[in-house]
Amino acid sequence: MVKTLKTFDLKNKTVLLRVDYNVPIENEKVVDDFRIRQTLPTIKYCLDAGAKLVISSHLGRPNGKKDSSLSLMPVGEALADCLEMPIKFSSNCISEDAHDVTLGLKPGEIHMLENLRFYSEEIENDNDFSAKLAKHGDIFINDAFGTAHRSHASNVGVAKHFSRKGIGFLIENELNFLSKSLSKPARPLTLVLGGAKIDTKINLIDHYIGIADKILIGGGMAFTLLKARGIDVGESIVDQSKISAASKLINKAKSKKNLFLPKDVVCSKSIENGLKHNTFDITDIPSDEMALDIGPKTIESFSKHILDSKTVVWNGPMGVFESSFFEKGTKEIASQIASCTEKGLISIMGGGDTASALRKFNLDNKMTHLSTGGGASIELLSGKNLPAIFALEV
Ligand code: 3PG
Ligand code: MG
Repeated sequence: MVKTLKTFDLKNKTVLLRVDYNVPIENEKVVDDFRIRQTLPTIKYCLDAGAKLVISSHLGRPNGKKDSSLSLMPVGEALADCLEMPIKFSSNCISEDAHDVTLGLKPGEIHMLENLRFYSEEIENDNDFSAKLAKHGDIFINDAFGTAHRSHASNVGVAKHFSRKGIGFLIENELNFLSKSLSKPARPLTLVLGGAKIDTKINLIDHYIGIADKILIGGGMAFTLLKARGIDVGESIVDQSKISAASKLINKAKSKKNLFLPKDVVCSKSIENGLKHNTFDITDIPSDEMALDIGPKTIESFSKHILDSKTVVWNGPMGVFESSFFEKGTKEIASQIASCTEKGLISIMGGGDTASALRKFNLDNKMTHLSTGGGASIELLSGKNLPAIFALEV
């Protein structure tokens, strides 16, 4: 059993809270605070209950070295702005000074620790490092869903040093949408997948072929599947190492007839030269062009499938939505999901690029659930256990 935040008496206790504040930063400012805002209910609850709070996170991949461009200081400032209160900050997560700051906390105060990954011990899940982190709290609460697929010191190793441990509201909410609600989904259930890379999503497709009523695939990953089906995809992105896995998936889906690939695509010689683009049927992609978005026939058929669904799970854009020439597929699919959600569709969105696309089209608030996790949500949807959650079993 994994305990939830409300089951703990937090008064005068020091809570070590692991969050995922791996957020985009430009010029020492947080440019997207979605992951920060999603942790506010947990933080406010702890403070209101009279706890002292020590917050830990990683940021980027500094490879065990201090890197000032990956300092969590700007994130601390963004959090202080959200909460309208000062926050104490330690520039080293396990130093004696940092432990002293924690010891001096009063109920209702926050102490934020510098980037955990400035120590290689973090991703090595080192026991001494976990023990030093654990000295920061009486109770361990993990609310870092985006990192829950990693077995690191701050989310897995640290847990064995606590008898009182559990998940925060963010993780509880993610599990409700990505696991519980999908164990008996309202049907038809449609999985919409896209994005450039197929490797991280092969297991997900495989798992869902037996579960989903329909699987719609766009984005760069579709071309490995199309190639495996024997279609000439020109210069479109193909992961040669996944062709045989892709063929197996196609065979597996044959009897189910639930796998749908693009019928037409928008092509160009390059993303940079996007102004010169044309739409082709999937069997007519010119040999010197690459497909960069789904075409109108595909948009129409995918939109129809979405309209017929009661639950839609979406991960990955339909094309290179960052370019105005290749954004239409992603935009139209997002709009369709948003308008169906208004009429009762359950829409569950995951992945950093999907979230950026939804924000670009101002549709991020129109979905039932927008996950804070990319890799973690894919693992969970693929039916796997997340090590960081397993570590909290009591
Ligand atoms: C993420 O943003 O994907 C998570 O914070 C995990 O980061 P990682 O992929 O560097 O482990
Ligand atoms: Mg990642």
